Amino acid sequence: MSNRPNFSKSGFILATVGSAIGLGNIWKFPYITYENDGGTFVLVYLAAVILIGAPLMMAEIFIGRHSKRNVVDSFKVVGKHPGMAGIWKGVGWLSLIALFFLIYYYSVAGWVIFYLKETIGWSVAGFNKTPAELTENFNAFLHNGNSQLFYSGIFLFFTALILSFGLTKGVEKMSKILMPALFTCLIIFVIAVSSQPGFTKAFEFLFHFDKITSKGVLEAIGHSFFTLSLGAGMGITFGSYLSKSQSIVKSTAMVVFFDTLVGLMACIIMYSIIFSIPEANRAESFGHSAVMLFTSLPKLLYNLPGGTFVAPLFYLAVGFAALTSTLAMGEVFITLFQEKLGWTRRKCAAAYVALSLIIVVPAGLSHGGVDSLAELNLVGDAHKGFFNILDYLVSNWMLVLAGLFTSLFIGWAFPAKPLREEMEEGHGTWKLFHIWRFSLRFILPAGIVWILVSVIQSL
Ligand code: PHE
Repeated sequence: MSNRPNFSKSGFILATVGSAIGLGNIWKFPYITYENDGGTFVLVYLAAVILIGAPLMMAEIFIGRHSKRNVVDSFKVVGKHPGMAGIWKGVGWLSLIALFFLIYYYSVAGWVIFYLKETIGWSVAGFNKTPAELTENFNAFLHNGNSQLFYSGIFLFFTALILSFGLTKGVEKMSKILMPALFTCLIIFVIAVSSQPGFTKAFEFLFHFDKITSKGVLEAIGHSFFTLSLGAGMGITFGSYLSKSQSIVKSTAMVVFFDTLVGLMACIIMYSIIFSIPEANRAESFGHSAVMLFTSLPKLLYNLPGGTFVAPLFYLAVGFAALTSTLAMGEVFITLFQEKLGWTRRKCAAAYVALSLIIVVPAGLSHGGVDSLAELNLVGDAHKGFFNILDYLVSNWMLVLAGLFTSLFIGWAFPAKPLREEMEEGHGTWKLFHIWRFSLRFILPAGIVWILVSVIQSL
């Protein structure tokens, strides 16, 4: 694999930060934090990110850099070290299937493009929608199968197009543009909301300490996997393009820091807006939390200073965040196709589109466009519909299971000496090595098994 490209120094960090920061931070984290009443939920989430997420991300990047292979073969190459059979390749396949199911992500990414278009139109023509009209607008859009397919299709097409340019000219270049752009937008929003009466209430909500339900704990830990793109082969694939002169430990620390920062900033922005509404009207203005980004937020954005500018800018920023994540998802498949089949990047990108349509089409139609897909009930009433079933399987089971096997693989099946050598390459002596390895051997597996047992009990 001598002709493999390498990311530049900032390229790896920005691309990995880009993969991590996505709809998980801006769409999912604020609404699950809201549903779980903030405070303690955030604390558990932070603990999960530091104690489980960061060590696991290091293990994934290690597997990638050590093997310089795609998500499946990397397990075989690294596993060969102590003379082990290629059974670990199964973990690579599991991550790949998780990532395949995760293609439902394009559905929500498509909604963002639709709202970018809508807000541009509203800003030009003047915004005058009532909350009820906005909810109706969103529901009509959800039920319109053609629109669903069109907008998620656009997102998929652009992702594949950028990927076809190559690793450095595609993913790296886009991440170098989009990530600074996203941070600039987020800073503009924080400034815009800082004058709102809800601003201090948002901080209080995020950092007050109260009790938490066991479901909340599970959700916080599960989200730490999703937001850091763990268990989906992303760390392995991007790690396989990481140069030996860069530190895995420091790069991971930066990714985790920025990802967490953006999740918290998204909460501050959205809660400042929401808490500025008098409490009595909040429930009505706020709507259903999972879709608040699309039903209630547009109106609230127009109430901000410079609303006509800020509203479309918000959806543009969310689109940037989603795009760097879909690029990472696609790159995992493209690297695999390139190495397994020897195809050109362009052909790999076309194959990725074809493969993605298998999920994108039914996911898009399962929001109401086609009744049988919307009503599909395979994993219980709480997760009805093709889209929700995939989200449930990926977030609650697959990412977490792949994470469990990855930690066992590196913690137990890989010898300490070469592990330490690779981790210190580009870093120098790493004093916390033993603590990290200990956590891979004991803390992570115990934590993940506990999560799985709790998920099974809740069935
Ligand atoms: N981390 C991304 C987000 O928060 C989602 C993702 C998961 C991306 C797995 C790539 C791989 O939106």
